[in-house]
Amino acid sequence: MTNAAPAKVAVLISGRGSNMQALAAAQGDAYRLALVASDRPEAPGLAWADRQGIATFARSPKGTGKAAFEQALDTALHDAGAEWIALAGYMRLLSDTFVARWRGRIINIHPSLLPKYKGLDTHARAIAAGDEVAGCSVHVVTEELDAGAVLAQAEVPILAGDTPDMLAARVLIEEHRLYPAALKEFVRT
Ligand code: GAR
Repeated sequence: MTNAAPAKVAVLISGRGSNMQALAAAQGDAYRLALVASDRPEAPGLAWADRQGIATFARSPKGTGKAAFEQALDTALHDAGAEWIALAGYMRLLSDTFVARWRGRIINIHPSLLPKYKGLDTHARAIAAGDEVAGCSVHVVTEELDAGAVLAQAEVPILAGDTPDMLAARVLIEEHRLYPAALKEFVRT
């Protein structure tokens, strides 16, 4: 039996934040969300987090540049007491400096069965390739895009007539199941 306090997790988003909402819904003894941060102040997920009473950080790197943005983000993460970072639809590459500072403490969810289809347009590429299965992966973030160790994956079938949007919706349901479970395991390490 352990009486360890819940791990403090920051979630980085760029948009709607449905994975962040799934992570928030699964908060409990394993982890709590200490901060939701975004590189896009208009990201709908930020307003949602704010309404839940979760601390938020919002700042665009446009203007000040990436280094100043990441410095401010790092300060906000420390101020919030964050120990772990979960990227959830965060669509900007983190610098090598930032990744090194948080080495081994950042994970990401990616909408493909890695190592297949790193980067963008994963669902269209899986359909175009004639794949029979697609899915999502939770992986450790390293300096190289979508290349860190895979922690967990979930598969869905690709059906005849699927469009990228139809497939994305099927994969997203699995993302919302997979990510909280993988995060709970990860913060125990
Ligand atoms: C999710 O499908 C996530 O896997 C993907 O963006 C979507 C964000 O949705 N992430 C990436 O493509 C990262 N390269 P959400 O904002 O509703 O969680």
